[in-house]
Amino acid sequence: MANILVTGGAGYIGSHTCVELLNAGHSVVVFDNLSNSSEEALVRVQALTAKSLIFVEGDIRDANALDQVFAAHQIDAVIHFAGLKAVGESQQIPLVYFDNNIAGSISLVQAMQRANVFNLVFSSSATVYDEANISPLNEDMPTGMPSNNYGYTKLIVEQMLQKLAIADARWSIALLRYFNPVGAHKSGRIGEDPQGIPNNLMPYVTQVAVGRREKLSIFGQDYDTVDGTGVRDYIHVVDLANAHLCALNNRLEAAGCRAWNIGTGNGSSVLEVKNTFEQVNGVAVAFEFAPRREGDVATSFADNARAIAELGWKPQYTLEDMLADSWNWQKQNPEGYKK
Ligand code: NAD
Ligand code: UD1
Repeated sequence: MANILVTGGAGYIGSHTCVELLNAGHSVVVFDNLSNSSEEALVRVQALTAKSLIFVEGDIRDANALDQVFAAHQIDAVIHFAGLKAVGESQQIPLVYFDNNIAGSISLVQAMQRANVFNLVFSSSATVYDEANISPLNEDMPTGMPSNNYGYTKLIVEQMLQKLAIADARWSIALLRYFNPVGAHKSGRIGEDPQGIPNNLMPYVTQVAVGRREKLSIFGQDYDTVDGTGVRDYIHVVDLANAHLCALNNRLEAAGCRAWNIGTGNGSSVLEVKNTFEQVNGVAVAFEFAPRREGDVATSFADNARAIAELGWKPQYTLEDMLADSWNWQKQNPEGYKK
């Protein structure tokens, strides 16, 4: 069992990963500045697992705060979720994104090096792939220039970590390229709690269903897809969380830097998601068709063979499970962690 530092551990994916880490018997230190999350998520993680974790409120750009964490705890590996992720906002305030996501990641790996900790799992994104690639996307396909500044920060950090591992063989780094994380813990106690108007499809759908928003706008109905709407690879957040545990096991044994796609390998259209959500949950989702969203591609889904073969990981949950669990969380927590 290992001592794991989880940056951004109070957030959506981080909190679900903490549950799986604690259940697997690991010790967890969460380091989060709560800029996009609530400490309540960690209270619930501990209640769900009947185990405790250590929470340190701090910013990954604060070198002293990081040094103190590494000095106080014998950390074996770091899972690095901390960062900003709002695509629209990243276009308005790019420097804030470069600072949090790029400078923040540099600050973290510098602190790791000072503390002699060289095992890292990094939250990357399928957005790093060149848009000209045809799905299923595999890890040998070229990366491109992401259409937004958020995606750009993921690409830069990936490249930086690859170069770092080439220069110094002590590093062991997993780049997990997430496709579209949705769903929530079965209990409905933790889930995705976006601030303001959701950018992503799933929280928008659940907020319409619960009455917080009037209707879903479906961005584009004339894509070259099964029904004209965009196709994505939705992955249950618990499957995604477990991929981090598998990557940790792999990285505690191997050197170098390697990328893995974390998706189900199945594409679902926006209409399919909406219709299946209505059927599975017995609730209506009002919608209208709207123009395409800038920067969107028609289709994106994973070839997940490398993760299955090398990490010993396999997604367990269906689209129906994801949609039922997203709704269970939203229904129980209509205002997110505020209630
Ligand atoms: P989230 O916003 O829920 O979690 C991120 C956490 O990091 C939050 O708790 C936030 O308070 C914290 N944080 C932000 N900046 C920080 C800083 N400077 N110092 C310390 N803590 C900081 O987001 P999430 O959906 O859980 O995403 C986790 C990671 O996965 C992010 O890096 C994100 O870019 C990446 N990712 C997410 C998706 C997605 O669709 N959710 C897809 C691909 C990649
Ligand atoms: C988006 C980001 C991507 C980021 C990812 C995870 C863009 C261009 N891409 O990816 O950089 O890594 O989120 O945070 O923003 N949709 C609607 N109506 C909505 C919302 C979405 O029809 O209100 C559609 C989209 O057009 C798309 C699908 O639903 O076809 C999924 O959208 P979304 O959840 O935003 O994910 P991505 O576009 O894959």
